[in-house]
Amino acid sequence: MNILLIGSGGREQALAWKIKQSPRVEKLYCAPGNPGIAALAENIDIAADNISGLKEFALANKIDLTVVGPEIPLTLGIVDEFQAAGLRIFGPGKAAAELEGSKLFAKKIMKRYKIPTANHEVFEDAQKALEHIYMSRLPVVIKADGLAAGKGVTVAHSLVEAKRAINAALKDKVFGAAGARIVIEEFLSGEEASILAFCDGEHFVPMVSAQDHKAVYDEDKGPNTGGMGAYSPAPVVTKEVLNTVNETIFAPLLAGMAKEGAPYKGVLYAGLMINNGVPKVVEFNCRFGDPETQAVLPRLQTDIIDIFEACIDGKLAAKKIEWADSAAVCVVLAADGYPGSYEKDKEISGIEAAAALPETFVFQSGTAQKDGKLVTSGGRVLGVTALGADIKTAIKNAYKAADLISFSGLHKRTDIGKKALARL
Ligand code: AMP
Ligand code: GLY
Repeated sequence: MNILLIGSGGREQALAWKIKQSPRVEKLYCAPGNPGIAALAENIDIAADNISGLKEFALANKIDLTVVGPEIPLTLGIVDEFQAAGLRIFGPGKAAAELEGSKLFAKKIMKRYKIPTANHEVFEDAQKALEHIYMSRLPVVIKADGLAAGKGVTVAHSLVEAKRAINAALKDKVFGAAGARIVIEEFLSGEEASILAFCDGEHFVPMVSAQDHKAVYDEDKGPNTGGMGAYSPAPVVTKEVLNTVNETIFAPLLAGMAKEGAPYKGVLYAGLMINNGVPKVVEFNCRFGDPETQAVLPRLQTDIIDIFEACIDGKLAAKKIEWADSAAVCVVLAADGYPGSYEKDKEISGIEAAAALPETFVFQSGTAQKDGKLVTSGGRVLGVTALGADIKTAIKNAYKAADLISFSGLHKRTDIGKKALARL
């Protein structure tokens, strides 16, 4: 098969690595890809949001299956466009991708199908939003309705913070149209976990659980980032919690989306807050998580192409998906200053030594080739994943490998996985 993978992050390198393991794959292209992916696929210089360019490429190169990494092409309707052109593609259609594209849409669906989540109100007027906050208990959570590259959410612990977030979205329009409406919701306490599920429109199969580390510094201090590391499994997701997630979240959501005329196919990412064993939805994403994927996919034993096809063909119920009984930890190496401003073009060394360790993988995200050297080009530069018999061993292995990699201004958290240890 000829496969086209779309995206350029660590998530996509993990996908490329897994896709390449399938004996069914003859040729793998990645648009636009990154230097790490170049070792696994032929990188094609087409941007992930250039839907017509991607479609032309897929038609001209006889692509049998396209796999979409990031949310933007999905919310732009790449799946509908490819299908209309007779191309097979893995991911939700435009209407279903609204679960991530609009927080308000997700909230409406959750309310309609009685899926547990935080109570919310919607505002377009800053004064009305503020008046609502005066009546609310702090903290409150303020979210831009649309896609804001992970920066649209503020957990406000004071009126000043809340006011700043409201004005930023509704008055100063820092998120543009994505922040023209805001959702203000109740603060949920508990421990977060991510459960991603393969979906075929009717059935779902949850993947092994994971936990992201969003804050930039140890002990969850500092501003939120795209994710500073992840581990899998997340012990907060017990068998009972998983059953509850299946019964109260995935099952009604899939049935509800089908009823809405937008059956969900692809990966559905449920961001959860779990309090005393009760899971509530913090957010849905319409794709694989980053960096969760880098911790989850190394545990997958089944041919991922077979799974993608079962999802597309509505045959997931008959598909057995197997996972290694091991644990995986992914530590992200970032550029100092991220998620604010940071320097680029710093030479990276040590990747080969790290990747040579057993059951260890380096997934690149913000890297570039310059004058024959591999340099940093983004805030999150790369992720180092290691497997281990248990979380403790995986943590040790991941840090042993991560410590071999260096570049000027490198910042990494030193406590990825610590929360899991506290639960064992
Ligand atoms: P989101 O983009 O909706 O996942 O929000 C980003 C982060 O903000 C989440 O991962 C949580 O850490 C936090 N967050 C969002 N909504 C809530 C909520 N209702 N209660 C507590 N924390 C939240
Ligand atoms: N890890 C968070 C996300 O993928 O959105």
